[in-house]
Amino acid sequence: MVRVFINGYGNIGRRLASAFSHDKEIQFVGIGKYSIDDKLDEAFAKKFPVYVPEEKISEFRQKGYDISGTITDAIKSSDLVIDAAKEGLGYRNKVNYYVPLNKPAIFQGGEDRSGENKVADIIHNSRVNYDKVANQKYVIQGSCNVSGMGRIMQPMIEKFGDKIKRYDVTLIRRSADLEDTKEVRDSIEWDKNPHHQDDVKSFLPSVKLYVEAYKVPSRMMHLHQMVIRFSDKVPYFDSLSDIYDDEFGVAVLGKAKGTAELRLKAREFGFEHDDTNMVHLHEETMRKSDDTLKILYSDDQTGIVIPENHLLFQSMMFGRPKKEAYERTDSLFQIKKKRDMLVKQFGS
Ligand SMILES: NC(=O)c1ccc[n+]([C@@H]2O[C@H](COP(=O)([O-])OP(=O)(O)OC[C@H]3O[C@@H](n4cnc5c(N)ncnc54)[C@H](OP(=O)(O)O)[C@@H]3O)[C@@H](O)[C@H]2O)c1
Repeated sequence: MVRVFINGYGNIGRRLASAFSHDKEIQFVGIGKYSIDDKLDEAFAKKFPVYVPEEKISEFRQKGYDISGTITDAIKSSDLVIDAAKEGLGYRNKVNYYVPLNKPAIFQGGEDRSGENKVADIIHNSRVNYDKVANQKYVIQGSCNVSGMGRIMQPMIEKFGDKIKRYDVTLIRRSADLEDTKEVRDSIEWDKNPHHQDDVKSFLPSVKLYVEAYKVPSRMMHLHQMVIRFSDKVPYFDSLSDIYDDEFGVAVLGKAKGTAELRLKAREFGFEHDDTNMVHLHEETMRKSDDTLKILYSDDQTGIVIPENHLLFQSMMFGRPKKEAYERTDSLFQIKKKRDMLVKQFGS
């Protein structure tokens, strides 16, 4: 049994806790919480042990919360910490806790891989570099957009290799997650230097990749438009299913109208946290013209990184063969079953 502590209980932390607390080979130490709010009540309702910073423990206890100990106590009694802190705080946690207490940690995609706040040397994408993160001490799990791009690009690279000249990707990102309380502003916002391009190039260094990113007033999923240029005519393939049928966490759909329809279907199907945990290629929007292929896929921003963290955990802690790791992750998240349900609903 590996003892795992999840430091942070926001949109990502609460999903990680739901999944990791059900894995029989994990002893779930608990979650780290920093504020008193409805998520704290949710953590107690789910019977998760809750740990808080030392300076806040009396405040939480005075308000009647049965706190299990300090963040330091939790980290000391863990074999691995999954840091799910608000973007950018992972570095401080690494310096203040993980390094002094000599504990390995997984960081999330909002943390830096270079510069003065760098937390790790490598970004994980299970489809590309699962084996390279085996037994590493500090690793970043790529963000939702970065995870989705790797999952779509690597099978293309394996199929068409050096026939591909360049990728131009436009990321259309949601402004807030479903459960965020912040206002969704009526504005389309651009990003003058999207980190996603360098993040993907860190694990796919030889590709020519150009990324633009926009935020739109939506709470549902991300949508990526990927334009792939070939050195000659687009190679023949019948359907995107020819390339992606056996891919973990990729659904080829033909009839969905938008991201909200998918998210609400996930809720109707009773998928945990309303997540599909995958990317959905929208085959009916595919265009081929001479040397150019255009594809469109939606990316479940909150859900896709949770099974990725589970795969990363298995590589870091056990150095487990990839195929076996995918099987274990699938049995925890039921990805294949969810994909079949979506394909049945939205055609392929
Ligand atoms: N949201 C997404 O769709 C998404 C997708 C992929 C990756 N990510 C990445 O995942 C990370 C977390 O994002 P999120 O959306 O879950 O953020 P979030 O909902 O804002 O939650 C952040 C959590 O961090 C906690 N926190 C505050 N100080 C902390 C500290 N020092 N150490 C640990 N936790 C601390 C907060 O606790 P309190 O609430 O108790 O104050 C809060 O629960 C970021 O790196 C983000 O880029 C997010």
